[in-house]
Amino acid sequence: MKRAIAQEDFGTLEDGTTVDRYSLTSGNGVRVRILTYGGIVQTVETPDRHGRDADIVLGFPALQDYVDLNEPYFGAIVGRYANRIAKGEFTLDGETYRLAANNGENSLHGGPGGFHTKVWEARPIEADDSVGLRLAYTSPDGEENFPGTLATTVTYTLTSGNELRIDYHATTDRPTIVNLTNHAYFNLAGEGTGDVYDHRLTLNASRYTPVDAALIPSGEPASVEGTPFDFTSPDGIGERIRANHPQLLIAQGYDHNFVIDQPHPGLLTEVARVTEPRTGRVLEVSTTEPGVQFYTGNFLDGSLAGTGGRVYRQGDGFALETQHFPDSPNRPDFPSTVLRPGESFDSTTVYAFSAR
Ligand code: GLA
Repeated sequence: MKRAIAQEDFGTLEDGTTVDRYSLTSGNGVRVRILTYGGIVQTVETPDRHGRDADIVLGFPALQDYVDLNEPYFGAIVGRYANRIAKGEFTLDGETYRLAANNGENSLHGGPGGFHTKVWEARPIEADDSVGLRLAYTSPDGEENFPGTLATTVTYTLTSGNELRIDYHATTDRPTIVNLTNHAYFNLAGEGTGDVYDHRLTLNASRYTPVDAALIPSGEPASVEGTPFDFTSPDGIGERIRANHPQLLIAQGYDHNFVIDQPHPGLLTEVARVTEPRTGRVLEVSTTEPGVQFYTGNFLDGSLAGTGGRVYRQGDGFALETQHFPDSPNRPDFPSTVLRPGESFDSTTVYAFSAR
């Protein structure tokens, strides 16, 4: 298929808003489908080493599934604050803000009406060696109790080199906090084919942030050395997931922020490389963000059927959510997530797909 971008109707929300689906084709075997609802990456079709295509992200077949059932945040843009804020509370310039508690006592992923539920304005972009989709959403001052009007754009670009690049940009008219990510779950053997434990993972992170029982970072970043969190050289995702390690027991698997070893903070740095032995598919992730949440789909419990009609169970996908660290607004020792008027939030993550 030639490099192209196409638009189609993907249904209508209860309030009458229509949702579109855009198909981006790289011209070199990869097709990515994106919804204006939640900016959701619905499918990513890539060839294996024999040229056989599969959809390698978890998702749903229809709009209503995303509206009713997307508690796992399949493929969605997550904001204003990806990951957790302890007790849903933070103080900025002396003022305390209270967010909805939607994860025990915590605020998770921007609250119940977060960016994953918004219909984004879309503009297709065509360039010499890429196709893209620029999504825009302006979050009003006070939405989900966050201060400031946050003008946000998220640009997806699919290159002829089969890289999906995500550029995040935001500005505000009052001091606020921001942490944006995409919550795609991958299974490089194809969604719905079973667990990802045979995938081999390398993570460019010599430290991670251990958590308390509520999955809030509990202290200083800790060394991964000698623990099941050491993926500095390639290892099976499932190799040590059943180790009797207190952090794995808390999260029922991996659900942790890793501190990326960044030689130049703010510049695009390699984060992760994942290979799937049977199909030969390879995923390489790089980002400008300081952290990445490695999550092994621990809460998938067999109660959801995915895009291809098969049921998802625990471990059937993994997410690599590039981000600032969880609970940063309450942690002056972590890289800051504060955004002030006149500044701009800019962040880039690249997912590169190949097979060998
Ligand atoms: C993130 C969180 C997980 C879970 C998923 C969504 O990965 O860290 O604990 O909330 O999102 O199910």
